[in-house]
Amino acid sequence: MKAVLVTDGIYCLPVNLESYQLFEGMWPMPNGISINSYVVQGEKTALIDLIEDVSGKPAEFEAELESIPLEPKDIDYLIINHMEPDHTSWLPKFHEKNPDIEIYLTAKAAGLLKSFCGIENNVHIVKDGDTLDLGGGKILSFYETPNIHWPETMMTFEESSGILFSCDAFGSYGTLNGVYFDDQLSTQQHDFFINEALRYYANIVSSFSTFVTKGINRLSGLDIKTIAPSHGIIWRENPQAIIDSYSRFASYMSGPAEAEITVIWSSMYGNTEKLVNNIVQGVRSEGLPVHVHRVPDEHVGAILASAWKSAGLILGMPTYEYEMFPPMAWVLDMFRRKKVWNKKVLRFGSAGWSGGAQRELDSLTEKMKWEFIDPIEWKGAATQVELDLAISQSQALARQVKEYCAQ
Ligand code: FEO
Repeated sequence: MKAVLVTDGIYCLPVNLESYQLFEGMWPMPNGISINSYVVQGEKTALIDLIEDVSGKPAEFEAELESIPLEPKDIDYLIINHMEPDHTSWLPKFHEKNPDIEIYLTAKAAGLLKSFCGIENNVHIVKDGDTLDLGGGKILSFYETPNIHWPETMMTFEESSGILFSCDAFGSYGTLNGVYFDDQLSTQQHDFFINEALRYYANIVSSFSTFVTKGINRLSGLDIKTIAPSHGIIWRENPQAIIDSYSRFASYMSGPAEAEITVIWSSMYGNTEKLVNNIVQGVRSEGLPVHVHRVPDEHVGAILASAWKSAGLILGMPTYEYEMFPPMAWVLDMFRRKKVWNKKVLRFGSAGWSGGAQRELDSLTEKMKWEFIDPIEWKGAATQVELDLAISQSQALARQVKEYCAQ
């Protein structure tokens, strides 16, 4: 692949990680992900962010650099927006090729540069609003945006072009193959990248939603013409589309999400499963979209995106040895970690000789601002009583969700 010209003197160097890899060692990527670096050429040349040292990817990066044409030793400045290894694990080897490169990053990033890469020379700490003049009309300014996605994170803005190099923020899953800009996308491809942005957000960024809102407010004074993230498509026709999407995703943590319900269910011997059809029917009868996920068949990475976007959750889960069914406990603990907060919730589930799942669920979700309606619990096989309750309680939850989202 060749470097992609963004505008005069500015290039994107996208390298795709394929779908067989797990992001952060745990998140499935059915559509892969791109890791984008950028070159900005004035009289001096800056490289913004780097790549992960996996599966021959550095060779692809160097081939793209060569297409400009540049070699690692030709780079004057390395701008590190974010130290997570998907952007920096190749840095020690890159640094061997250009040991005199001047590195610009935040103070917290400098600490991580030392601990991850052992690099301490030619390091320049930048503060919010600092600038670096590359000559030739290209001036980079730096904005600290902590916790999008790590505490050391900043963004870089190129003033003459209005390009914001946002690193993880405004990123998405999905590889780049011949299409790099939002104005090249069909409606279907546009929806694909917005959906991949949601899944990426729910997996990677959601815990830091208050910081996303703060960061977006912080950047509101900039005349942003293009959003150039380090994952996914470049937004040059309508950068506000991805800014608005991220604002909306962030708002789901502290208030109502969409008027939709996500049903997540698990069953040991089919007794809890028996209510699922009626649950779905009840939600649909109230006119709400419903998304159904079975655990452990589906990975929590996909379930998270659906749950993050839905104002209502229905959890089908039997009691297992006095506690929650373990595969559901894993999903729900991830919801706690990722701050899936402020939901309207119903739980249904069977037990053998004793309940206990609801008690553990109440304890786990104590600080998650979930509002439960009465659960449907029974011992052994479900009867017509539980089947009827599945309809009436899911309808009741759907009505609550509609009221909540109408506020
Ligand atoms: Fe793309 Fe937080 O790293």
